[in-house]
Amino acid sequence: MRKLHDDPSEPSPRATPGIPSIIAGMMRIAEKNDAEIRALYDTARARGVTYFDHADLYGVGAPGGGYHRCESRFADALNLSASERDEIVLQSKVGIVTDGPYYDSSYEHIIATVEESLTALRTDRLDVLLLHRPDALVEPDEVARAFDELEATGKVRAFGVSNHTPRQIDLLKTAVRQPLVVNQLQLSITHAPIITQGLNANIVGEPGAVDVDGGGVLDYCRLHGITVQAWSPFQKGTERGVFLGDPGYAELNAVLEEIGDAHGVGPAAVATAWILRHPARMQVVLGSTDPSRFAEASDGANVELSRSEWYRLLRAAGHRLP
Ligand SMILES: NC(=O)c1ccc[n+]([C@@H]2O[C@H](COP(=O)([O-])OP(=O)(O)OC[C@H]3O[C@@H](n4cnc5c(N)ncnc54)[C@H](OP(=O)(O)O)[C@@H]3O)[C@@H](O)[C@H]2O)c1
Repeated sequence: MRKLHDDPSEPSPRATPGIPSIIAGMMRIAEKNDAEIRALYDTARARGVTYFDHADLYGVGAPGGGYHRCESRFADALNLSASERDEIVLQSKVGIVTDGPYYDSSYEHIIATVEESLTALRTDRLDVLLLHRPDALVEPDEVARAFDELEATGKVRAFGVSNHTPRQIDLLKTAVRQPLVVNQLQLSITHAPIITQGLNANIVGEPGAVDVDGGGVLDYCRLHGITVQAWSPFQKGTERGVFLGDPGYAELNAVLEEIGDAHGVGPAAVATAWILRHPARMQVVLGSTDPSRFAEASDGANVELSRSEWYRLLRAAGHRLP
């Protein structure tokens, strides 16, 4: 089992000039028609984006939706040839059961869900499979048995996790043999606990110091060669909606504009570049379904922010440095 970025022919974060470190998130395409999905896909491909993020549950709540709705909309709308399928990376996730809700990382659930994802995506393999959320009832041996079977049958090529703490990953690694190559975590300039917690070491009473990630998950991922994928890169945080253009984030938006003007890009590109500037070499999972917004945001892959610009944006988002 190889690591995600060991193969030089694969897109690697900032490893190859001109290849953006962008993933196209497919969570919001359930109600898009074929032409809209095709336009989004074509825009992504034209920008060099080849990595598409799915999950079994994307589209569950949409009218007429259900499990695997976004996966099947993607496959039905695009009807990719075998050779085009080979050009892209398809990632999906398993483990959230919305009828409850509860989490399920049992052998049976993982195996059955992957089969359904393969059918919905009309493909014979997932390039990457993530455990969507930590499951309090996780049995590492069961996860290992599922991963071994999926690897042996060629149905999944690489494995990872999402929203996992360092200790939860260590626990999985007591049984799982394959490298866990990805941890997908929520990160935007305004919702940045995985960064601010480390900045506030030794500080008491500062909101940014609160450890919400089990202690240094970003450093842990760097130490263990796990690629962090930043989800919801423009969302305010636990509140719904984007900070871009929100008067409640006037200072941040002014700084995004100013820095964008200096680099000849829009504010969304600067917000993307802020994540990519971090030396953890993260990937950004963009969720826009609007091709022009997607294009503007993906421009950020070609912007290198200075150290002072990066910290200025952090402060403009309301984070205090000790
Ligand atoms: N692992 C996890 O637990 C987890 C959780 C959530 C999401 N994800 C993944 O992360 C991806 C991205 O998440 P997200 O969709 O929340 O990310 P996002 O890119 O922060 O937000 C995209 C949403 O914001 C809207 N938006 C409004 N104004 C915008 C602007 N100026 N620029 C860009 N978007 C604007 C978009 O609308 P339009 O579509 O109209 O542009 C879209 O609804 C998802 O697709 C999914 O693949 C993973």
